[in-house]
Amino acid sequence: MQILHPSGKFDNHARDYAHITVAPLAAAMGAEIVGVDLRILTDAQFAEIRDALFRHKMIYVRGQQLTHEEHEVFSLRFGPFAEDAYTKGVPGHANVHPLIKEAEDKSKMVFGEGWHTDSPFLPEPPSITMLRSVQIPPFGGDTIWCNSALAYACLSDGYKRIVDTLKVHFSLRNVLASVHAAVEISDSPIGRLATTRDAPTLSEDLQRKIRGNLHPMVRTHPITGERALYLDGSYAVGIDGLEPQEAAPILDYLAHFITQAAFSCRLRWEPNMVAVWDNRLCLHQAFNDYMGYRREMYRTTVMGEKPV
Ligand code: SIN
Repeated sequence: MQILHPSGKFDNHARDYAHITVAPLAAAMGAEIVGVDLRILTDAQFAEIRDALFRHKMIYVRGQQLTHEEHEVFSLRFGPFAEDAYTKGVPGHANVHPLIKEAEDKSKMVFGEGWHTDSPFLPEPPSITMLRSVQIPPFGGDTIWCNSALAYACLSDGYKRIVDTLKVHFSLRNVLASVHAAVEISDSPIGRLATTRDAPTLSEDLQRKIRGNLHPMVRTHPITGERALYLDGSYAVGIDGLEPQEAAPILDYLAHFITQAAFSCRLRWEPNMVAVWDNRLCLHQAFNDYMGYRREMYRTTVMGEKPV
């Protein structure tokens, strides 16, 4: 097979599937699934879509005008819904979470800003996230991902031996502080979180997310066995057994290493797209660069497992 990069570690070729067509997006990761209608997928098509997700880490499909119910049905094929750490579902669809930023919202921060994997401060973070677009600004509002399995593969053997032994402390602490500093109060996921800025005490639920959890810095994918770095610049606040000043340079180095441009892909959204990504194998980030325009998206997350 042709190798795309002199390192020999990059290979985002599509597999030769029988029931779907896959068009890779970037050298590092990401792929478009072509020729499917997510409302009427056969089991054979779904099995190949799932395989393509694990291979390419993020997949997307254009031209899918799904109802909330059809979104739920497609999401449930990957597994039961996860706890969503921030958001509140739309009426009648508790697990379909609106991510809507209004044109007049002038917050200096947007939901999902800052590289992250979804809710790693939970004991069993969501495995898969699905995002459906309804209204997209004329420019901006892209999402970017990076392949944290490729990043792990590109570390030296010596550095791999070090990170293989470490556990990361994940917490909502720093993100909550940023939300309190930068977000306007509104009826949006982080707009509601911003209201806790003035609360005399935080709820037990928020305190639980601030206490967070320890997870391995390198996790093994439960289905494919692929190993990937598991840390981010948003929620990773420490390393088990290390002083904060000892942990900070390691976390900082790795958070930058994983998110370098060579390991990334970027999606220019259009209405009626569905993107699906595997939080165990990649990080992602939203952009707050479309002030004055409305962006309307809906999200579901799939229950994950304790990272190992
Ligand atoms: C997220 O799930 O973090 C949001 C991504 C986006 O809105 O682009």
